[in-house]
Order: sequence, then C-alpha cells, then structure tokens
Amino acid sequence: MDKSKLAYTHTYGCRANVSDGEKINGMLAEMRYGFTNIQDEADLILFNTCAVRENAENKVFGNIGALIHQKRRNPDLIVIVCGCMVQQEHITEKLYKTFPFVDLIFGTHVLHKFPELLNEVIINKRRVTDISNTETITEDLPIRRESEFKADVPIMFGCDNFCSYCVVPYVRGRERSRKPNDIINEIQGLVKDNVKEVMLLGQNVNSFTPSFPELLKEIEAINGDFRITYMTSHPKDLSRNLIDVIANSEKISHHLHLPVQSGSNRILELMNRGYTVEQYESIINYARELTPLISITTDIIVGFPGETRTDFEETLSLIKKIRFDSAYTFIYSKREGTKAAELPDTVTSEEKSAWFREMLDVLAEIGDTAYERYVGKTLRVLCEGEGRTGQGQFTGKSREGVIVDFNSDNTDIIGKFVNVKIDKALKWAVLGRST
Ligand code: 5AD
Ligand code: SF4
Repeated sequence: MDKSKLAYTHTYGCRANVSDGEKINGMLAEMRYGFTNIQDEADLILFNTCAVRENAENKVFGNIGALIHQKRRNPDLIVIVCGCMVQQEHITEKLYKTFPFVDLIFGTHVLHKFPELLNEVIINKRRVTDISNTETITEDLPIRRESEFKADVPIMFGCDNFCSYCVVPYVRGRERSRKPNDIINEIQGLVKDNVKEVMLLGQNVNSFTPSFPELLKEIEAINGDFRITYMTSHPKDLSRNLIDVIANSEKISHHLHLPVQSGSNRILELMNRGYTVEQYESIINYARELTPLISITTDIIVGFPGETRTDFEETLSLIKKIRFDSAYTFIYSKREGTKAAELPDTVTSEEKSAWFREMLDVLAEIGDTAYERYVGKTLRVLCEGEGRTGQGQFTGKSREGVIVDFNSDNTDIIGKFVNVKIDKALKWAVLGRST
C-alpha cells in the first residue's frame, strides 16, 4: 500500500487565521495527506501567514528561505505560502521572484480552491499563484479541528473599519456575515459531538448582520451544556443591549476582549477608531456593573505616528484606571497602503521601545493583584488537561476566561465542566480545588 504523503502546516497570527488553518488541514486530510510536526520529513510544507505586523512577515521570509536546502535534497517537496501576507501584491511579487522553489501561493479569498490549485501544481508540474478577490462565503469546507471539545466558528469575514494602521481590510476584504441558520446548524452539530466551548470569530463580531445579540440568543437556545465565547469586539459597535444579553445568559462567557488601542482621544481619532476614551470607559463600567466578575482584556499599540509623551501617558492612565486583566501590546508597525503609513513619524524606535517597556511594567504591576477578586469564589471551569503551574493536577478556563489550575478527586474530568473553589491568585492564573 502507498505510504501516505506527509504535510507540515504552520499558521501564524490571529484566530481567524487559525480557523483557516484548520480548514486547510481538513482539505489536506481529504486529499489523503497525513500530518507531521517535523518539517524535515514532510512532503508538503505550508505556511499560512499573517500580515498585521512587519516582524511576522520577516519571520515568514526567513522560514521560507531556510527551505532551500530541503528542496535541494528533495526536489519533489511542495512548498506553499498562503494567508493574509500574500494577499498583498507587492509581497507576492517579492516571494515569487526571491524563492523560485515556492510552488503555490494562494490568498485568503480562494481558500476553497486549495485542492484544485494543489492538483494543478502536482499534475502540471508548474508554479501557481491565485490571489484573486472573490468575496463569497463557502460553507461546508472540511475541518481538522485542533481540539476535541473546543471549536472555533467564524461568523463573519473581512473588516470595513479601516483603522488607519491596519492592513486587515485590504487583505481580508469587505465585511460579510454567514447566514444565522448555517451558524446554528454548525453549532448544533458540534454540541452533538460533545464540544463544550464554541468561539465565535470575526474581526468585529458586533457588526454581524442582522444582529449579534440576536445570534447569541439563538445559540444560547441550543440544547446542551456548552459555553459561548467570541472575539473580537469593537468598542464603537458594542451596544448596551449586548451586555444585557450576556448578563442574562447562562452560556455566554464573562470575558470581554475589547481592544482600546490608545488612551488618547487625539490618537484614537487619528487611528479612525470611532470612539472616545470616555465612551470606552462607560462600556466597561456598564459591563462590570452587570457582571462584576467579568474579565476585561485589550490590545494596545504604542508609538503610533505622531504620538507624543503626553498621549502615551494618557494610555498609561487609562490602563491604571481600567485595570485590565491582561493586554496584548504592540509597537506600531508601518503597513504599506494604509493611511497611517503616510503620517509623519517623529518618535525614534529607541524611545518607542522605552515607552513599550514602561507600559509592560505598569501592566505587570496590575497583573500582580488583578485576580485576587476571584479568591473565595467558586468558578465554573472547563477542564482542558493536566496542570501547568505544577500547583494543581488539572488546568482549565473559567467562564471569565481565567486560567484555573486545580486539584480534583474525580480524575475523569478532561473536556468537562467542574466547579472550582479558588483559594489563591497568581499573576496569570488562579489556584483551587473542585467542589
Ligand atoms: N502595528 C501594530 N499593531 C497593530 N495591530 C494591528 N495593526 C497593527 C500595526 N500596524 C494590532 C492591534 C489589533 C491587533 C490584532 O494587532 O492592536 O487589535
Ligand atoms: Fe484592523 Fe480595525 Fe478591522 Fe480590527 S477593526 S481588523 S484593527 S481595521
């Protein structure tokens, strides 16, 4: 019998890309590929790339360049680059010219054509590029999911917000929502298959059409014990109605990932974010009023063009005022084709790095005590596996999205919900015992 060919696939970037990666793996499995974690023994290597920041792109260029030796050893090796990065024409041109051993380049819009494109490479033995723009949604692609009991479910694709620093609207195209019925059917199937957590994905789930709060209510009504999480929310579109729905729900997570990006109204305006710091604070206050244990996380960019020390200090003040549970922090990265790329940028990269470190210190100090509010409380935890901190047999995540390491007499709990009484808070996790 033929030994099956082995694929090594690597996905960079956000959850939307990870979700695409699961579909790519699903299609490869249907084409009878097996999978390996060892790049050297692969017959097919695929990089599913991210374009949000330049250093992610540079890493991909480095990793592709390093394949030249393997391709020399094995001329039949198939090398594929896909994802957001190649949706930018200047990058695809550079890749095509610099790396003659790259066999297939395809963009985010033609994911569903992957098997066809790969066949063209194999049968016609020629290089293929397809970064055409077709903004249709293809349902029912095969999926090879990473987890047995957690599943990502994209509810919309693309982004119409055009934040001035961001390349996503250019590489992912216009916003389009899946039909609520397709989403409900998919989740019903997942719940039947014993999935305990579904994460609804979109660049801005709050602009899902016809209505995100209504979609949540419909998902909530699906029979079964499971948790609903979602990301990413955009502050300009997050309604009080949504927070009401969350507060009245049994299943929706009490974790809000709400990227603020900056604490300066002047910079928010230049970023084209569509809200003020005051509006942002008011949403957070409302969410905390209705769901006191909710965890709030965010994204922050330091060193946006024209940002001054005063603007930066306003970001620090906001961090201290809101006391985020955690934050993904980035130094601004100039992206070709975006509005911000045309703005004058006077702050040196050394200064930006210094500000960045200063911000990390402030966040770390808040992180030291942020989780103390959970001590003494009983949290409902989805057990995901064996403990990580060495201070508990098991680990999981609470409804608030907090990592919980805990001990339990019942050991048949992986992939199940457990109530855990919390007795200690660490920096990025809490500890407890199942009740
Ligand atoms: N430079 C730095 N950070 C960026 N992000 C998006 N674009 C850029 C950029 N050009 C960050 C934002 C966004 C997160 C996913 O990545 O904070 O919320
Ligand atoms: Fe980029 Fe803004 Fe869209 Fe998020 S909302 S993907 S930051 S343009």
